[in-house]
Amino acid sequence: MSQPTIESILQEKRLFPPSEAFAKAAHVNSLEAYKQLYEKAKLDPQKFWAELAETELDWFEKWHTVLDWQPPFAKWFDGGKINITYNCLDRHLLTWRRNKAALIWEGEPGDSRTLTYAQLHREVCQFANALKQLDVQKGDRVGIYMPMIPEAAIAMLACARIGATHSVVFGGFSAEALRDRLKDGQAKLVITSDGGWRKDAIVPLKDQVDKALADGAVPSVKDVLVVKRTNQEITMQPSRDHWWHELQPGMSAHCPPEPMDSEDMLFILYTSGSTGKPKGVVHTTAGYNLYTHITTKWIFDLKDTDVYWCTADVGWITGHSYIVYGPLSNGATTLMYEGAPRASNPGCIWDVIQKYGVNVFYTAPTAIRTFIKMGEHLPMSRDLSSLRLLGTVGEPINPEAWMWYQRVIGGGNCPIVDTWWQTETGGVMITPLPGAVPTKPGSATLPFPGIIPDVVDLDGTPAADNEGGYLVIKHPWPGMMRTVFGDPDRFRKSYWEHIPPQDGKYVYFAGDGARRDEDGYFWIMGRVDDVINVAGHRLGTMEIESALVSHPSVAEAAVVGRPDEVKGEDVFAFVILEGAQEPSEALAKALKQHVVNEIGAIARPSEIRFAEALPKTRSGKIMRRLLRTIAAGQEITSDTSTLEDRSILDKLREGV
Ligand code: WT7
Repeated sequence: MSQPTIESILQEKRLFPPSEAFAKAAHVNSLEAYKQLYEKAKLDPQKFWAELAETELDWFEKWHTVLDWQPPFAKWFDGGKINITYNCLDRHLLTWRRNKAALIWEGEPGDSRTLTYAQLHREVCQFANALKQLDVQKGDRVGIYMPMIPEAAIAMLACARIGATHSVVFGGFSAEALRDRLKDGQAKLVITSDGGWRKDAIVPLKDQVDKALADGAVPSVKDVLVVKRTNQEITMQPSRDHWWHELQPGMSAHCPPEPMDSEDMLFILYTSGSTGKPKGVVHTTAGYNLYTHITTKWIFDLKDTDVYWCTADVGWITGHSYIVYGPLSNGATTLMYEGAPRASNPGCIWDVIQKYGVNVFYTAPTAIRTFIKMGEHLPMSRDLSSLRLLGTVGEPINPEAWMWYQRVIGGGNCPIVDTWWQTETGGVMITPLPGAVPTKPGSATLPFPGIIPDVVDLDGTPAADNEGGYLVIKHPWPGMMRTVFGDPDRFRKSYWEHIPPQDGKYVYFAGDGARRDEDGYFWIMGRVDDVINVAGHRLGTMEIESALVSHPSVAEAAVVGRPDEVKGEDVFAFVILEGAQEPSEALAKALKQHVVNEIGAIARPSEIRFAEALPKTRSGKIMRRLLRTIAAGQEITSDTSTLEDRSILDKLREGV
């Protein structure tokens, strides 16, 4: 790990207070109101969260203990009985929202569907009954490998309805990556579709599932449930595979929600860390329900008339928390879009906003930089006047992209919420509340009520204002991850032992560098571990290195992130070949494809540089800092005295 350095955005001084009109109608409507909430939560966190749990959620049975904290293991609302789908569906059926649009879906080819709360409830119940018929029981794990179609959300909710734990694997991951995740989670069933639409082509999801399960590679998987989407020919294995449209007609629309313990596992979601193997991040029921509910309500300021659109994929935590659970728990209308900007329709995002009159729009900085590149004539030629609030997530946003987003997409009058959080945190942690907190371009601003972040050095000593350090969280919160699936020790080591406990109090280590300015605003500076962020996708450099060395021609590999104007970072790989192998264009191409096969297209190296040796310290550690400098094409000015053999640096610069 390297000490983060302070960047030039230190110069950013622009301040944008919410407009009076926006603030007046907002759930949290002034800086004073925010500060009051924040102080209240700080003074007595348990009281704060208990009051919200009482007023915002419906319970079958009330908890007896708000927080049981045995660091690093937390239990929230222990003793309570709850089902997140009751809060996302059933309770709205008792009100006028019964016939309100719950889910608006737009397919890439232009087909669309709207499901009211009553219709979504019905479909979830039917799907849940199908799972039961396939012998899925409470506590079983179910893999979901789906395109962005309503059935992806329905499948997640159906699992939650009967108490099965879902493990969604992003549809862009390869068969190999899918297999590893299904194996680790010992999934009993996989839900998939024949394919999905991606940039005018079919992604053959079912074929990938077949590959992942080939030769009994994942013995725990007994059945595969297949939704028909793209209609191309696929092979169905009679004893294993079932078409959803054949099962559905026989399924009852009545399926009572399973009363879950607050701490029953809701889902596992795999994410990259600084070692080779992805971590199965575990989230549980009640705390996650509450945290995603209240963050959605206050940060996106949802009103019953809003159409809310988050452009993430349900395969990521953003899709879990802010397409599915958070919005539905609030009774909102959530929009789901299968497509992405593509040659045949570069302005599709703006078409969707115009078509549905989207009011709240949440996307990633990398998408914004792509929009900037494609040209402002695309959004400018659509009517985007329905927008009233914009959000970003996934990586630091550069102030100029922020300004463009505000001016071109927001028409100069939408607040922007830059939301910092992680798969592990369950929901947003540092963010402006849009009617309350004046924003600064490039800053995620202030912590959500109940969240106590700090910037510290490796001893845990708080950094001075504007001094860079490590971002930590000092008090447990309801949405926090509970453990790494099957590996509590890794949970402790990865998140709770980097920084020594302060006065006996454990702090959560986020893995990001940050600084806090004189106004208490947080500026996130990016990862300080061996994790890189490519177009908002989190990738472990070690994961890509293990993929590379699994190729017979590769002896050793080192992967670093290289700054990229649009993607934030791209994947740059230094490769040392096995004895007799000769470097060639063709081999570089083959190695890139190998990484795609092992992990997925998101991990494809943009450059492979063949080398004779890697810079190592005398104790044999690869000096990634130097490799990053070389990959970025910059001069090495830092100290190289610990380097064993200086001559290899020049060779690395040129390649062999
Ligand atoms: C990492 C978490 C949770 C949403 C999607 C990513 C980076 C996330 C911001 C932001 C600066 C951000 C951090 C973090 N990140 N949001 N607003 N500003 N950086 O989830 O895949 O778990 O990645 O994304 O580096 O640690 P994830």
